[in-house]
Amino acid sequence: MMRQMSALTPSPWVTRFAPLIAAGGEVLDLACGSGRHARWLAGRGFRVEAVDRDAVALELLAAVPHITLREADLEGGAWPYEGRQFDAIVVTNYLFRQRFPLLLTALAHGGVLIYETFMIGNERFGKPSNPDFLLRSHELFERVAGSCTVLAYEQGEVSAPKPAVIQRICAVKGHAPSLRLPPGGA
Ligand SMILES: C[S@@+](CC[C@H](N)C(=O)[O-])C[C@H]1O[C@@H](n2cnc3c(N)ncnc32)[C@H](O)[C@@H]1O
Repeated sequence: MMRQMSALTPSPWVTRFAPLIAAGGEVLDLACGSGRHARWLAGRGFRVEAVDRDAVALELLAAVPHITLREADLEGGAWPYEGRQFDAIVVTNYLFRQRFPLLLTALAHGGVLIYETFMIGNERFGKPSNPDFLLRSHELFERVAGSCTVLAYEQGEVSAPKPAVIQRICAVKGHAPSLRLPPGGA
C-alpha cells in the first residue's frame, strides 16, 4: 500500500535520529514552517521551540502543547538565540549559511543536529534553484567538522517525497565516537 504523504508528514531522516535526543529535551525547530517536525517532536515528549518569520504558519501551532512559538527573521537583525542552547536542533528545507556558526553555538554539548535540505543539482528538478539556497557538495559535513561528531551523512538524488537532490546529516556536538545508530530506512 502506498504511504500517504502530506505537508505534515515528518521527514524520515528526522524521525530516524530523534531517538538520540535526550528524553524530554529542548529542541529548536528552525524555520519550522507549518511545524511538521515541531508537532511530531512535541508529541514524543520533547519541549519544542518553533521559530519562523511566517506568523500565519506559526498560528497553526498555537494550540499544540509543549511548543513555544517565536516569530523572528532568522536572517536579519539580532540572532534570537543569543545565550541559549538546545538539546537538539532540527532544520529541514531551509538554508541561510551565513548564520550556520550561530546555529552551532546554539547546540549544547552532546546535543543532536539533524539537518536536511536541498543541494546543488536540485535546479534540475525545479525550486529551490538559487545557489544561495542550495548546499555545496559536502557542505554540511564540512561545516560541522571540528565541533561535532558526524553519525550519519548522505548526499545525492532522491525520488521521495519528490525528485530532488539533497544533503542530510545527523551530528552530535563534541566527541561522541560510539553512539548506537537508530535503524535506517529513511
Ligand atoms: C520550505 S519551508 C520549510 C519548513 C519546514 N522546515 C519543513 O521542512 O516543513 C521554509 C521556511 O523557512 C522560513 N523562512 C524563510 N526565510 C526566513 C527568515 N528569514 N526567517 C525566518 N524564517 C524564514 C519560511 O517562512 C518557511 O516556513
